Amino acid sequence: MSAAPAHPAHPGHLHKCTDATLTPVKSTIHFSITDKVGALDECLAAIKAMNISLTRIESRPSKTAEWDYDFFVDFDAANSEQVAQVAKTLESLAKQVHVVGTGGVPDAKTSADLADSTPWFPRKMVDLDTFADKVLEMGEELDADHPGAKDAVYRARRSEITNIAKTYKTGQPIPHVAYTDVEIQTWNAVFNKLTTMFPSHACREHQYVFPLLIQNCGYGPDNIPQLDGVSKFLKDCTGFTLRPVMGLLTSRDFLNGLAFRVFHSTQYIRHHSKPLYTPEPDVCHELLGHVPLFANPDFADFSQEIGLASLGASDSDIERLATIYWFTVEFGICRQGDQLRAYGAGLLSSFGELEYCLSGKPEIRPFEPAKVALQKYPITEYQPVYFVAESFKDAQLRVREFANTCNRPFSVRYNAYTESIEILDSKEKVLRYAQSIKTDMLTLVDALEKLS
Ligand SMILES: [Fe+2]
Repeated sequence: MSAAPAHPAHPGHLHKCTDATLTPVKSTIHFSITDKVGALDECLAAIKAMNISLTRIESRPSKTAEWDYDFFVDFDAANSEQVAQVAKTLESLAKQVHVVGTGGVPDAKTSADLADSTPWFPRKMVDLDTFADKVLEMGEELDADHPGAKDAVYRARRSEITNIAKTYKTGQPIPHVAYTDVEIQTWNAVFNKLTTMFPSHACREHQYVFPLLIQNCGYGPDNIPQLDGVSKFLKDCTGFTLRPVMGLLTSRDFLNGLAFRVFHSTQYIRHHSKPLYTPEPDVCHELLGHVPLFANPDFADFSQEIGLASLGASDSDIERLATIYWFTVEFGICRQGDQLRAYGAGLLSSFGELEYCLSGKPEIRPFEPAKVALQKYPITEYQPVYFVAESFKDAQLRVREFANTCNRPFSVRYNAYTESIEILDSKEKVLRYAQSIKTDMLTLVDALEKLS
């Protein structure tokens, strides 16, 4: 039994930003056309004439001009020059042409500036389906130091469970796993150990929600809750949902999911030989560490803020945001009254580090995102330093200020009605956004008047 349960959290491997190395270059281009027979055909024919394969076409009524249509076309280009060529060609056939995202080479100069600097990012919830099999280590193979690496039965079982994630599509219920007696015993050991510590070490938000998870989602020492039921519970609380994942995603993909209030969750469990140790996230870490916090509205807002900042961010900004994520969602502590408490899932799912982080031994610093973003950290030992948030709301505002310093030429907002990302890159779109805020303000004033 390890005295120092290692905990590499989801966006570990921060240096591995795979997007720029993918070929072909996955890209999305947006353009508008006025309703006219054959206008779309003309645009698509021009793209196809360049021997480019289209992977998806999406249309909807324009948000900026009445009777126009917006089109989003996903395609695989040979390189960023070809992406720019597509943009240039469409400029003569359509309006408001811009590249929403591309995995292209950042330094190429093209007619569409965004094509040069904006990595591809998901715009709709269904776009998260493309992440399913893009996992880093431990997706299907296990490292030699994984306790289950030499256990063929464990590996086969793990593979059986990760297959659910591999084939899962947005909107589907998450298939149940019939956990075995051995798996339930492993859960039991973790559950019993950690729940003795929660009253004295977990933040009040975690403690508030935990009994609700017992009542509503089957949490208990002898039952491993199903992701599907937990996801529905979270959806009711904060709009967050769980999505099964095979293993570690890239930092970019993982953080992008948070923008949609989607948390990628493993479904398999650690090896039974070491119930209090895991070198990777598992269902104990997700359900006991992460889930209770995602039921809190302020924490949900905070997490989504990091996700929104990650959309189309540069590789270096992704690294900084992932570091902030690490020291908050995974290893954050917060001040509550005159005490410090843990809210990071890496702490709340690790008996040893939960005790250590509040022991008075490690260094504690205030949560200042610009400084946190540069902090180096180990992934196989206890953290040398922890950062204290005054509140989740305060942390969210600080992350928002930090995000404003990132190098991204547009702003985004999440539209919960359409489960999509709106890119605020034109006067018309910003005006429409302002109008929706105005409507909300009128509702607010009305409510205040009635209260008084
Ligand atoms: Fe985690």
